[in-house]
Amino acid sequence: MRRKSLSQFLIEAERTGDISADLRLLIELVARACKSISHRISKGALGDALGNLQTENVQGEVQKKLDVIANEIFLDANEWGGQLAALASEEMEFIRVVPSHYPKGEYLLVFDPIDGSSNVDVNLSVGTIFSVLKAPEASPGRDIREEDFFQAGRNQVAAGYAIYGPQTILVLTLGRGVSGFTLDRHIGSFILTDATMKIPDTNREFAINASNRRYWPEPIQRYFDDCLAGSVGQLAHDYNMRWTASMVADVHRILTRGGVFLYPADSRPGMQSGKLRLLYEGAPMALLIEQAGGRTWSNGQAILDIEPESLHQRIPVVLGSTSEVQLLVEHYLHNE
Ligand code: AHG
Ligand code: MN
Ligand code: MN
Ligand code: MN
Repeated sequence: MRRKSLSQFLIEAERTGDISADLRLLIELVARACKSISHRISKGALGDALGNLQTENVQGEVQKKLDVIANEIFLDANEWGGQLAALASEEMEFIRVVPSHYPKGEYLLVFDPIDGSSNVDVNLSVGTIFSVLKAPEASPGRDIREEDFFQAGRNQVAAGYAIYGPQTILVLTLGRGVSGFTLDRHIGSFILTDATMKIPDTNREFAINASNRRYWPEPIQRYFDDCLAGSVGQLAHDYNMRWTASMVADVHRILTRGGVFLYPADSRPGMQSGKLRLLYEGAPMALLIEQAGGRTWSNGQAILDIEPESLHQRIPVVLGSTSEVQLLVEHYLHNE
């Protein structure tokens, strides 16, 4: 069987009018950056990319060497192409307006260059998350501002992630379903290997960092305790638990075999809104989850409906199989 490459998939999407030529080229550049990051990660200790730096990012996290390397790879790969007006990243305090010596385009790119970066040094799966928004209409003399990125997730024109695991897989939505592409390292191309990713609704499996239990809101504690007891809502089930400390890996598992992912608000200093960032973690993952038939929740609404208030804003995150999220919302979170 002749398989379809990402390039062919994107050209066909352009032909059917689903995406613009510029968005096609932008996704090609994003995919190229992911290939480059994948290659760098796979070198491990041979590539001088392991370990910490002395620096902290704006979230107060110690930066890994690879956080900074991958951020640079993403900037270099994407800002010259002419499709972007500006970029924002977990690893950059401020937005990056495309320098004036490059042509300026109509899109905004938001990314988490390395997600789950604590996993890099122990050779476990990490990923890159990206989201594409349209920049507001340019008017003479008006520069791109940070507020231009404050768009609800429903406005995303594309979102996805690359997971760097035993295989490197790019998972992409252009707003009409979710497709998975496996990197063929021999020819250097992403090849379509899952044309319509749908979240199974049957798997009873939850992903949460259980060591934080004492800090969680009471309804989350109750849900978790009921999962352990095997009776959630009116239903009796044995639950399985998985936590990789890499959102990309946990979401990829859920997209593949179902389940629910939670990173709730907690009472530790700085964690009152949870840990995960709305723009480059919550929103892109929420678009993928909804497009794959799943559901999300954050403070009483779908993640895609949240209007961002700041660039590095954090939100509580619940996402996964529709039936499990529904059960959680109806039996535990309804007043939250
Ligand atoms: P990042 O590496 O981009 O900072 O993101 C890490 C995030 C996310 O990937 C993961 O789900 C979560 O942090 C893990 O947090 P804990 O270490 O608190 O479990
Ligand atoms: Mn980080
Ligand atoms: Mn992350
Ligand atoms: Mn990161």
